Amino acid sequence: MAVLEVQKAGAPVLKKVSEPVKRLDGKLRSFLDDMAETMYKFDGIGLAAPQVGRSIRAVVIDIGDGRLLEMIIPVITAREGMAVDSEGCLSVPGIFGEVERSEKVTVEYTTRYGKKRKLEADKLLARCVQHELDHLDGVLFIDVAKSLRQETEEA
Ligand code: CO
Repeated sequence: MAVLEVQKAGAPVLKKVSEPVKRLDGKLRSFLDDMAETMYKFDGIGLAAPQVGRSIRAVVIDIGDGRLLEMIIPVITAREGMAVDSEGCLSVPGIFGEVERSEKVTVEYTTRYGKKRKLEADKLLARCVQHELDHLDGVLFIDVAKSLRQETEEA
């Protein structure tokens, strides 16, 4: 396992629409392991492949409930409600913003072993899923936030 370099806002890879994952092989599994290690290392609750320089549709999420979710080619198939809350991003250090998201989402994805899964998420997990999936379409939270603030203003 290895900690990967996190790309920061301004890096072209963060603005690209990512490609579907083509092969579920050992290389991909090892990459997913590295993504998780990188997310934990930097205390993130989610990380999308473009954030570590790979333009493929894969994300990892752990909102701190002890469950590591790996989602390959994830697609949101249903949405419900609306909620505004604060977000940050490992690719945009020091900046936080209020972002409007669906309150609940249903997301369908493939696991590292090729199984199809469907997850109903709400609250923080729903927010995180939407944030990470935006990365796969080249969208950062600072592109969609209603307002932004520097971390230093919070102190
Ligand atoms: Co992010």
